[in-house]
Amino acid sequence: MGKLDGKVALITGAARGQGRSHAIALAAQGADIIAVDLCENIATNEYPLAAPEDLDETQRLVEKEERRCVAVRADVREPSQLRDAVDAGIAELGRIDIVVANAGICPMGAEISKGAFLDAVNVDLVGVINTVSAAYPHLSAGASIIATGSVAAMVKGATDSPAMGPGGAGYSHAKQGVARFVHDLALQLAPESIRVNAVHPTNCNTDMLQSDPMYRVFRPDLEAPTRDDAEVAFPAMQPMPIGYIEPVDVSNAVVFLASDESRYVTGLQLKVDGGALLPHTAPYASA
Ligand SMILES: NC(=O)c1ccc[n+]([C@@H]2O[C@H](COP(=O)([O-])OP(=O)(O)OC[C@H]3O[C@@H](n4cnc5c(N)ncnc54)[C@H](O)[C@@H]3O)[C@@H](O)[C@H]2O)c1
Repeated sequence: MGKLDGKVALITGAARGQGRSHAIALAAQGADIIAVDLCENIATNEYPLAAPEDLDETQRLVEKEERRCVAVRADVREPSQLRDAVDAGIAELGRIDIVVANAGICPMGAEISKGAFLDAVNVDLVGVINTVSAAYPHLSAGASIIATGSVAAMVKGATDSPAMGPGGAGYSHAKQGVARFVHDLALQLAPESIRVNAVHPTNCNTDMLQSDPMYRVFRPDLEAPTRDDAEVAFPAMQPMPIGYIEPVDVSNAVVFLASDESRYVTGLQLKVDGGALLPHTAPYASA
C-alpha cells in the first residue's frame, strides 16, 4: 500500500533535478505521473535547461516504479500548451489529484539583459499560476497543489543582490509572489477542500545550483570559479553544517503535502532549508 495509490500527479520541470525526484517519489507511493518540461534552453538563462532525453529518462524511472507516466514537452509560460498537456494526461490517466508546480529558471548575472527579469517572472511565477489554472478544472475535494518557492529569494540581498542582476531580481519577485499566491489561493480553495502549500528549498544539489553563473555568485572574488571553489562557500547559506540539500529532501516534503497525512495542512510555507531563513526571521519575537 502506497500513500498515493490511485492518484495522478501533474509535475512541471519534471525532466531532471527536483521535478524528476518528485516524480519518482510520488510514483514510489503509487501515483501515476504527468511529467511536463520545456526541454529547451531560454536565452537569458546562461546554464542549459533539460534536454528531451532527460524527460525520457524521468519517464523510464517512473515506469521502473511500475507506475504510468505521460511525458509532455510544454512551456509553463504558455497556457494553451499546459492545457494540451493536461488533456493528454487526463486522456490516458483519467484524473488529476496532485499538482506540483516546480519548473523554474534562475537567469542570474549582472551582465545579462534586462529581459532576464521578465523571463524569471514569466517562468517562476506566471508559470506556476498557469499550471494551477490548467489543472484546476479537473481538481476535486481532497486534491493537493504544491508550488516550489525558494528560501534564498526570501532573504534580502541574496537573489536580489546587484551581482545577481535583473534575472536575480526577477527570481526574488517571482518566488515571493509564489508564497503570496499560495497563501491567498489556499484561503480561496479551502471551502472546496482543495489544499495549497509551498515548499521553499535552500541550495539544492541540482543543475541550477551546480552551474557556472551560480559559482560566480558564491565566489565573486574569483574570475572563473569552479565547483570546488563554490563548495567552500555553499555552507554560508545554512546554519546546519551542509552546503546544500538533495532533491529527495524536498521530495519527502512533497510526498507529505501530496498525501492525506497532511489532509488539514493548507497555506503552509514549508521550508526545507537547514535553518537558512532563521537568521532573517523572528516570528515569535516582539522586536
Ligand atoms: N537548486 C536550487 O538551489 C533551488 C533552490 C531553491 C528553489 N529552487 C527551485 O526548485 C525548482 C526546481 O529547480 P531545480 O533545482 O530542480 O533545477 P533544474 O534546473 O534542474 O530543474 C528545473 C527544470 O525546469 C524546467 N523548465 C525551465 N523552464 C521551463 C518552462 N518554461 N516550462 C517547462 N519547464 C521548464 C527545466 O528544463 C528543468 O528541467 C525551481 O522552481 C527552482 O527555482 C531551486
